[in-house]
Amino acid sequence: MSEPSVAAVILAAGLGTRMKSELPKVMHPVCGRPMLAHVLALMDELAVARRVVVSGPDTPAVAALAEASGAQVAVQAERLGTAHAVLAAKGALAGHGGDVLVAFGDTPLISAETVRRALDARRSAADPAVVVLGFDAADPGSYGRLILGAGGALEAIVEAKDATPEQRAVTLCNSGVMVLDGRIAWDLLSAVGNANAKGEYYLTDAVALARAAGRACAVVEGAEEEFLGVNTRADLAALEATAQTRLRAKWLAGGVTMTDPTTVYFSADTRLGRDVVIDPFVVFGPGVSIGDDVTIKSFCHFENAQVAAGAILGPYARLRPGAEIGPGAHIGNFVEIKKSRVEEGAKVNHLTYIGDARVGAGANVGAGTITCNYDGFTKSFTDIGAGAFIGSNTSLVAPVTVGDGAIVGAGSVVTHEVPADALAVTRAPQKTLAGWAARFRAKMRAAKAKKN
Ligand code: UD1
Ligand code: MG
Repeated sequence: MSEPSVAAVILAAGLGTRMKSELPKVMHPVCGRPMLAHVLALMDELAVARRVVVSGPDTPAVAALAEASGAQVAVQAERLGTAHAVLAAKGALAGHGGDVLVAFGDTPLISAETVRRALDARRSAADPAVVVLGFDAADPGSYGRLILGAGGALEAIVEAKDATPEQRAVTLCNSGVMVLDGRIAWDLLSAVGNANAKGEYYLTDAVALARAAGRACAVVEGAEEEFLGVNTRADLAALEATAQTRLRAKWLAGGVTMTDPTTVYFSADTRLGRDVVIDPFVVFGPGVSIGDDVTIKSFCHFENAQVAAGAILGPYARLRPGAEIGPGAHIGNFVEIKKSRVEEGAKVNHLTYIGDARVGAGANVGAGTITCNYDGFTKSFTDIGAGAFIGSNTSLVAPVTVGDGAIVGAGSVVTHEVPADALAVTRAPQKTLAGWAARFRAKMRAAKAKKN
């Protein structure tokens, strides 16, 4: 469902001091992509019409990510609180009269389904001015507490530091996500003051202000796990664990077999076909797409790679950016493939580096083959034709071409073109001296006996 009347404001100006990092907090990755990118993807999923990311003054990476996804950027020069941060987006949303959805850039696991329930509640007959996504917290700690009136309607949000002991005992907490009626949102936020424990302009005060103006407010509840936020690296690790659990469940439900899902790590953008089998200990970095019926054996690591149906990978295969593995191809143990196409049915099974290359359909690349693609200055291409056979321990010094059906003898260093169906061998001729080893041993033993 598209949300043409909704504008999203994503708060991302926090300092993230406790991360102890040069990287802005919202740029730290979860499942292979920055937290902020998850929130922007959520807005894509909801098809909200406009998005504004509120960033701090010196975070070009945040601005670049926001702009790349079609969001506007509003800078909050001074960090004076969440209400102040939302107000920083006011100029960018001039002329917007629809609802305003506020989300936090450091809370990336919220589902579109949950946000939709809040958007629907905003449009319900009661016409609430503010709808807050809340959750029942196992440990309410520093969360804002949702204070309900007699009929269960939301009356106020009280920040933990400002709460009375009775209010602190409330476990229904503010996730931070809220939907405001755009017709009065800016008036409410402008009326927020900073006479509180932190001396900040709290977004949460919008609720009590709306109530004072005679408007209803409402809570929509979600699961605590969706609202996990990040303040520390430990939080980041905990969030990653939650997100990985979800991705594993998603792929199991999607027709993937995993012997031990807890040892398989996905990226948010991983794509897997049907009847993919994944053995324990496999890592999917960003940008990986795997076709139907692919078998992935243990200890593989993939990033930015495409694998076609029926391929067999690993154990211990490494696919680096630009690897394209064709249908039914085999990539075996301790094989690294970078920016190369391995075509249908080709086999690269043992201890090999293929970089900046094409391996033609049905070719067989022997153990220990290396494409020497880099001369210390530039990268060059190796082309291996269909049905070619590359003997073990071959060095292919790029740029070089091995024609269709050609054979390269084991141990060769190939520096010139090998035409189709030719044999190329570059190793030194073998010299065999009958009985030499036995004579050598006898001589050495005698010499040693004399010394003792
Ligand atoms: C906020 C809520 C609290 C809620 C909790 C959920 C307020 C006042 N409190 O508290 O009720 O339970 O989130 O996690 O809203 N930010 C800015 N500029 C600012 C201040 C904050 O962009 O000036 C951003 C932060 O980067 C962060 C978000 O707003 O993404 C929330 O700020 P934070 O300081 O973490 O608020 P909490 O104290 O956690
Ligand atoms: Mg917080």
